[in-house]
Amino acid sequence: MKNFQTNMSSFYINNIGEIQLKKFLNNNGNNIFILVDFNTEKFCLDLFLTTFNISNYQLLKVPCGESSKSLDYLSFLISELVKKKADINSLLINLGGGVVCDLGGFLASVYNRGINFINVPTTLLAQVDASIGGKNGINFDNIKNKIGLINYPLFTVTLTKFLKTLPQNEITSGYGEIYKYGLIYDLDFWNKLILEDLSFENSKKIVHHSIKIKESIIKKDNKRKGFRNILNFGHSIGHAIESSSSKSFHINHGLAVVMGMICELYISHLVLNLSSNDLNQSVNVLLKKFPTNKIPNLDLVIEYIKQDKKNNRGKLLFSLIPKVGCCYYNQEVNESIIYKSLIFYNQLHD
Ligand SMILES: NC(=O)c1ccc[n+]([C@@H]2O[C@H](COP(=O)([O-])OP(=O)(O)OC[C@H]3O[C@@H](n4cnc5c(N)ncnc54)[C@H](O)[C@@H]3O)[C@@H](O)[C@H]2O)c1
Repeated sequence: MKNFQTNMSSFYINNIGEIQLKKFLNNNGNNIFILVDFNTEKFCLDLFLTTFNISNYQLLKVPCGESSKSLDYLSFLISELVKKKADINSLLINLGGGVVCDLGGFLASVYNRGINFINVPTTLLAQVDASIGGKNGINFDNIKNKIGLINYPLFTVTLTKFLKTLPQNEITSGYGEIYKYGLIYDLDFWNKLILEDLSFENSKKIVHHSIKIKESIIKKDNKRKGFRNILNFGHSIGHAIESSSSKSFHINHGLAVVMGMICELYISHLVLNLSSNDLNQSVNVLLKKFPTNKIPNLDLVIEYIKQDKKNNRGKLLFSLIPKVGCCYYNQEVNESIIYKSLIFYNQLHD
């Protein structure tokens, strides 16, 4: 089984993926665990089981949403695996969005010092981003992804048919990361995206290209020297907005990243001289396409930014863009500039 371990996850779209996974499952016995949340159990499990002709498996289930990425649920799932007698040859299939993939990838990486896992992403965001690149983890004390590691699944199987049942706000969230790819890496793609509606139908056309972009960024940095940090554009502030959001002001990951990108475009303008033209055009596109809101508690957002994993020896480090389609990482930004960007953002929502 270990022979199948690859350094980089492989992407199989539609038919090819179906054939590969069927073959793999046929050769690897019955020791299968499937991790779902309540929605993916309801909307995706039957489709998955029939597509891959699986009848012999054990189910692991967590509630929907970010709160499942916690030590409590990790511990609950480890007890479940022990109870259900999972062993070193067990295979964990993560059937769900970014939450299930992040949590399940971490669970598989630490259970018995590591068992194999496969990601089957069922949200647009997980298909184009969270299921790729090997990052797994959970939140701690409300701080995003504080505990985790990098470990690759055997496969990531991406079937856009799962997206049919996804609510529009989750489709929109996935587009947040897709628009980020245009801004940091691919000007032509950005120019195409600005003409698109954020619809399920359109997403099917761009999932593959988005996966290729993320894969190519990861491949350029397989020794983890830092280049992959460009993927964090929008995330220093986006994660802080997500962490500071509450039940009354809940905000999903992709939308938080869009809000973070608007702030970080402004910071790019101040720190890297992103032109006023690029700033205005890109901010206007994001405001027009995405349902962004005012950020309520700026001081709390700043406190969470100080906890960001990219920071080094007290320096706040951001990924910023000098022009559309290009991104630099490890850019030091001081607190007053971050504050200015939050004010700039909120003034756009007066
Ligand atoms: N590891 C990484 O590289 C990486 C990258 C980006 C984001 N993330 C993480 O991913 C998470 C966000 O992922 P997400 O946006 O997929 O959120 P999610 O997993 O919470 O899914 C969003 C909602 O959609 C539901 N859902 C999933 N598939 C469905 C389907 N096919 N039909 C109907 N409903 C469905 C879920 O139950 C949930 O309610 C965050 O925790 C973020 O930190 C990780």
